[in-house]
Amino acid sequence: MVKTRSWRFDFDVKQRFMANSGLLLIQNEGSWAVSPLLSSHGFLPTRGSLMLDIVVCAMLFVMMILAVSIYLVRQKRLYFAHRTIQIGLASLLAIAIVGFEIDIRFFTDWRVAAEESPFYANGWVDRVLWIHLAFAIPTPFVWAFVLYGAVRNFNVAEPGEYSRFHRRWGWIASVFMLLTTVTGWGFYYLAFVA
Ligand code: HEM
Repeated sequence: MVKTRSWRFDFDVKQRFMANSGLLLIQNEGSWAVSPLLSSHGFLPTRGSLMLDIVVCAMLFVMMILAVSIYLVRQKRLYFAHRTIQIGLASLLAIAIVGFEIDIRFFTDWRVAAEESPFYANGWVDRVLWIHLAFAIPTPFVWAFVLYGAVRNFNVAEPGEYSRFHRRWGWIASVFMLLTTVTGWGFYYLAFVA
């Protein structure tokens, strides 16, 4: 039986219980309740939370869709399909980012699970997280800039004077997304798999 002396200590015990039991505790008007919907253990055989597992898998899906979209516009000249896919992908990413931020800020203490990694104490988990954030933070802004510019300046989706500018920035946005994905996978591996 653990004796709790302070609220902070009490909170730490509950966080640890959360990470070890696979259940998520939520605080509701001062009392704690177990949420059966939000499991702190995801579906991958790792220490990642449900949301982290979803994001790790979703990024593979996002990169595949992005590759198809660029192939369609570059090789097949299917401009309208490219436009539709890119708008859909950006909307999906916006929802995923909001969900992910809510989870990481309010529900999942990822450090509890990452502490078990041999790369946590020597600082590599944090180092790779900083590298990841260097791409992950600017990427939504670059995407918003490219998307807004394309919707405003193309006549529906026909090539025109804006093409050169869009092609350059479209590639920059795509490379940012690729680097966000690869560094994100690196962080996930070091923190929750190793
Ligand atoms: C963030 C979202 C987007 C990204 C990352 C993106 C990326 C790209 C890339 C990399 C290319 C160049 C392919 C090549 O090398 O030929 C391209 C071409 C094109 N994109 Fe996008 N795109 C986005 C959104 C849009 C939207 C919303 C529209 C339409 C309103 C659009 C219309 C076009 C057109 C018309 C071209 C062909 C330009 C030309 O070769 O004349 N794109 N896009």
